[in-house]
Amino acid sequence: MPANLLTRTILGAIAMTLVASAVLTPSSTHAQSAADKVVVAHRGASGYLPEHTLPAKAMAYAMGAHYVEQDVVMTQDDQLIVLHDTTLDRTTDVAEKFPGRARADGSHYVVDFTLAEIMTLRVTEGFNVETGEKQLNYPNRFPMFASSFRINTLAEEIEMIQGLNHSTGKNIGIYPEIKSPAFHLSEGKDLGRAVVSVLKQYGYTSKDDLAYVQTFEFEELKRLHDEILPELGVELRLVQLLDGGDENAWMQTADGVAQIAQYADGLGPEKGMIIDRDSTKNNLRISGLVGFAHNNGLQVHPYTFRADEGQVPAYADSFEHMLELFYFTADVDGLFTDFPDRAVDYLRGRQ
Ligand code: G3P
Ligand code: CA
Repeated sequence: MPANLLTRTILGAIAMTLVASAVLTPSSTHAQSAADKVVVAHRGASGYLPEHTLPAKAMAYAMGAHYVEQDVVMTQDDQLIVLHDTTLDRTTDVAEKFPGRARADGSHYVVDFTLAEIMTLRVTEGFNVETGEKQLNYPNRFPMFASSFRINTLAEEIEMIQGLNHSTGKNIGIYPEIKSPAFHLSEGKDLGRAVVSVLKQYGYTSKDDLAYVQTFEFEELKRLHDEILPELGVELRLVQLLDGGDENAWMQTADGVAQIAQYADGLGPEKGMIIDRDSTKNNLRISGLVGFAHNNGLQVHPYTFRADEGQVPAYADSFEHMLELFYFTADVDGLFTDFPDRAVDYLRGRQ
């Protein structure tokens, strides 16, 4: 076993043991019933349409998701676009359209392109850029380049969601992620401040507004809480994402969660941090991470729940059974899924 994998395995086992032995008390702040639990459309209804396109977002909205997620990155001319990667290679035809514009690592970075250039790109369901072959990561999803999709700005997406809220009478939230903030800062771009500025412009100014701002980087979470939000005169709900990296193992401990709670309103862990992915049907290994979070007044929204072949862990009988285990056995408050219709239907059936 490679050293880093061994370290991660040991740290994970320690975390599981620590949390399992913790004394936990219920919190009044977390979702207590099916009616309170939420569905976050991960990159939109990305199980059905190419991720982060407006059609995928509209579909997620129509399916009844409570929140629609936006990953946000910044262009060369300081515009905010909705894209998961800091590079354009996995989901667009940038390599064909802009030969010679890759960096030394072979990738085409969003920060090296203007918004006008990016708007000329065609968007596709994600393909595997590691092999260099144009193969879909999930073969049963929307066929590659079968239609003409475009990248959209954060403002365009918010306007669509707010427009739908007006026309339907519903109030569906947004869930923007500040992608790779340290990288953006190293490129001279304050992505976090720019995202919060746009949210303020569109009326998201208090914790009562339906918006969560998420980031994987703890330093950015602190900067948002201590500097950006106060300086812009807004209060927004903040979510610390957890990726399971060795350097972030502290985030899964009781003390770590208490530290995060000084700055955040929620945790967004990879789902294997809550139910060990090596669990079996007869031995479900549930960590105490949700309890730590609830004890500190934090919501918990794990990612990412996919119904594609091979994406349901062996400890669950089906996608819906996996939802049951997370929503009601592990007691999470919400979750990110590529298939929001199925999570919405599932929760409705539990009310
Ligand atoms: O942000 C939480 C969820 O989206 C998982 O992360 O890598 O898909 O942006 P990612
Ligand atoms: Ca995300």
